[in-house]
Amino acid sequence: MSKGTYYVTTPIYYPSAKLHIGHTYTTVAADALSKFKRFTGHDVVFLTGTDEHGEKIQEAAEKNGKKPKEYVDEIVADIKKIWDRMEISYDIFLRTTDEAHKKSVQKIFQKLYDQGDIYKSEYEGWYCTPCESFWTETQLKEGSCCPDCNRPAHLAKEEAYFFKISKYQDRLIKYFEDHPEICYPESRKNEMLNNFLKPGLEDLCVSRTSFNWGIPVPFDEKHVIYVWFDAVSNYITALGYGSDDDSQYKKYWPADVHIVGKEIVRFHTIIWPAMLMALGEPLPKMVYGHGWILFGQDKMSKSKGNIVYPEPIIERYGIDALKYFLLKEFTFGQDGNFTNRIFLNRLNSDLANDLGNLVSRTVAMVEKYNEGLIERTGEKEDLDQELQQVALNAYKKVEAAMDKLQFHEALEEIWKVIRRTNKYIDETTPWILGKDVDKKARLNEVLYNLVDSIRIIAILIKPFMEHTSNKIWTQLGLDENTMIWENSQTFGKTPEGTKVAKGEGLFQRLDIEKEIKVIEEENEVYLESLNPNEAKVEVMEHKEEITIDDFSKLELRTAKVLKAEKHPKADRLYVLQLEVGNETRQVVSGIAQHYTLEELVGKQVILVMNLKPVKLRGVESQGMILAAANDEKLVLATAGDEMPTGTLIS
Ligand code: ME8
Ligand code: MG
Repeated sequence: MSKGTYYVTTPIYYPSAKLHIGHTYTTVAADALSKFKRFTGHDVVFLTGTDEHGEKIQEAAEKNGKKPKEYVDEIVADIKKIWDRMEISYDIFLRTTDEAHKKSVQKIFQKLYDQGDIYKSEYEGWYCTPCESFWTETQLKEGSCCPDCNRPAHLAKEEAYFFKISKYQDRLIKYFEDHPEICYPESRKNEMLNNFLKPGLEDLCVSRTSFNWGIPVPFDEKHVIYVWFDAVSNYITALGYGSDDDSQYKKYWPADVHIVGKEIVRFHTIIWPAMLMALGEPLPKMVYGHGWILFGQDKMSKSKGNIVYPEPIIERYGIDALKYFLLKEFTFGQDGNFTNRIFLNRLNSDLANDLGNLVSRTVAMVEKYNEGLIERTGEKEDLDQELQQVALNAYKKVEAAMDKLQFHEALEEIWKVIRRTNKYIDETTPWILGKDVDKKARLNEVLYNLVDSIRIIAILIKPFMEHTSNKIWTQLGLDENTMIWENSQTFGKTPEGTKVAKGEGLFQRLDIEKEIKVIEEENEVYLESLNPNEAKVEVMEHKEEITIDDFSKLELRTAKVLKAEKHPKADRLYVLQLEVGNETRQVVSGIAQHYTLEELVGKQVILVMNLKPVKLRGVESQGMILAAANDEKLVLATAGDEMPTGTLIS
């Protein structure tokens, strides 16, 4: 019996480069939710896809010497490949270049124009190309930077069509108040209300003339429809909205949840709902803005080059390990750090130790003490009750956590059962019972309880870790047809006479230090195998603006290297003696990989003279010399040797 429909979506990703762990994260979450809802009896549609229009894609294609469509076709094929490899269970993969989508978006645009919600005017504003967003002066960050991505925006002016979003402001505010689920978590809802809705919405520019890679405005072909208008529409066009057959739309809309990253919550909780209001269609039931996976301090991003890709990780550790880690480690809604060490520690503690050991120990004991056969003797003890209660009540807690998209909490509830079952082994000490023939009946009852708890655990983890769940099922010798959610709600469903059989270990215990080296190497090999244009789109990161007063605090002077020696304790460092006018300064510099000692002697350099002295690996450094450096190369800065040393640089 179906418990009703459930419609879940991910953002449609830009096919402007390979997708990384950040995109994997959103998609893995949506996938686990879809699998969970299907498993618990819902009729699910899971939508994902690609957002293929806009200036950014056009530019990326040009950079690669390709036509936009040719360029996106290749990347989209890659994206589908990685989702297949990760067994992502999407039902619809929408491409915004699909004809059906384009037609429906044009219909939506036309309808809003006909009813006066879209009008023609002129736009002047600050445009951020990477984000495809216009901003007002007051929204910009220091240095005219985009408030979303912190990269510089530029002034742009064009004739354009506008969506009268201001008209919907009051209705939106009311909607936010009556339907808190429109924006989760709570903190983001307040941000939307206080920073955007309440200060007042300006009408939204929804067409562009500065480039042509987009869906044409149906009645004015020199304009293309704004890529975000095009993109958010995908959630309904994918179901056939605006086409001859909109039966899917009628059945599944409104979406139960749009899962998105926190940086695009505004598009999903303000612009998109306003468009739906204008269309007279219901709003999504929930928009969930999750946090960012950070790498160091920064958001991992295609344009920053600080990227972790899923491929090398799943090749080595399997998809279940990565999925478990992403969903368990990060609290859905908050930012979190990705490091190889944290990942490997989780694998060892939660997967190899807690779960892997529980299964292998239990199966081994049933084989050793009862020839692999499951028997229930009825030799109960009080402590059995506690185990059974924990195991058979877990499903409710998992369901509740999943309804709030708290994946980490759902997994934590399952791991409580796992840890409780491990504790039961310590409490009942089957190896001692095994020494006493009179305890045989009790021993078999204990083993039964262990196996039946593991049976429940295997059901509970199924939507999150299908391979592991199946492997456990096979080792326990259970019937495939009994792998159903409802069977996690009763204790004692393992039939007597079932025969267990040891299989390969579920997860190996890893040598963390060794694995860290391996992952780093494999990541490097993987990065090198990528098209360099895809791996690194160079965007300069600008620093905060400073005044001339800030700058004049620096004392920069010309200097000459008198003597250069190796640092006694660090291979990367040299110790330099510099002539600066009539003074001598000692500077420790990390340039050993780039210059020989001989090359340096006599070289003219630029010294930051008033930098506070520090000790570097025990050697005092009185200032710093300047260099131009990137990941591969370093060249010392110089003012030439025409000026005497000690000359001020300003
Ligand atoms: O924004 N941590 O596409 P996009 C967590 N096309 N999630 C991350 C992440 C990170 N470091 N980096 C990316 C777009 N994501 C638009 C969407 S929807 C109608 C149009 C995830 O390719 C996260 O879900 O830039 C984020 O919202 C999305 O990828 C952005 O993908
Ligand atoms: Mg429904």
